[in-house]
Amino acid sequence: MIGIFDSGLGGLAVWRELDLRLPDTDLLYLADNGAFPYGPRPPQFLKDRTEKIARALIARGAGLIVVACNTATVVAIAHLRERFDIPFVGVEPPVKVAAELAAPDEPIYVLLTENTASGEKYAALVEKFGAGRKVKAVCLALLARVVEDGSFREPAVAREVARTVREAVGDISEGAKVVLGCTHYVFLRELLQEALGPKATILEPSRAVAEQVLRLMTENGMPQEEAGKREFLCTGDPVTLSLNAARLLDAKKLEVERVDL
Ligand code: DGL
Repeated sequence: MIGIFDSGLGGLAVWRELDLRLPDTDLLYLADNGAFPYGPRPPQFLKDRTEKIARALIARGAGLIVVACNTATVVAIAHLRERFDIPFVGVEPPVKVAAELAAPDEPIYVLLTENTASGEKYAALVEKFGAGRKVKAVCLALLARVVEDGSFREPAVAREVARTVREAVGDISEGAKVVLGCTHYVFLRELLQEALGPKATILEPSRAVAEQVLRLMTENGMPQEEAGKREFLCTGDPVTLSLNAARLLDAKKLEVERVDL
């Protein structure tokens, strides 16, 4: 069984890639919507919180955990790896891919949360792959929120998102790469593309994360042939979460169980 978690619905972007590739493996998703958003949370809070989540997922049978959240990866994955004896796969903004695709003078914009932007992991990523290039971090708390509550589908909210992003990014030049450094933003991909125009190439890592999970499963001899169960847990309101998750996944209905950590 693979455990997957995020502060809410963003991690479903990774979940759906795993769902495609691992039809017979049990997937257990935990949306920590009781603590959403992770973006502005103090690091120690996130370490303690994600430790509890990992414990809950392992208690239900997870043999590998995907930290399907850039913020939790930056702040807490090292802590989790120290505490637990199972593999953890994290999510990072694909700055490396952007740097490989962009000509040296083409800018790279990274949309991400405050915590991810201020973490050492992100600084190291930019130093390693973005050195000598124009790499601009853009933090917009609004983006994760409108995905979590589903309001990005309302025309007025969509317009506000587009305006805010355009304003924060500024003039986009030909060849610009826009990296999605928060799993929630994957669900805004079309909206962002429309807002930023055809000069921008949007990059996001969900598929690469799923492929890394498959590699680690093979390396660790984990079984792929299980019952193919799909289970969803959350720590906040299960009714709204289930409705919003179903819409994001184009599913008719989704059973969500509320758990206390
Ligand atoms: N989905 C999370 C990420 O990838 C963050 C959203 C939040 O602020 O909770 O960073």
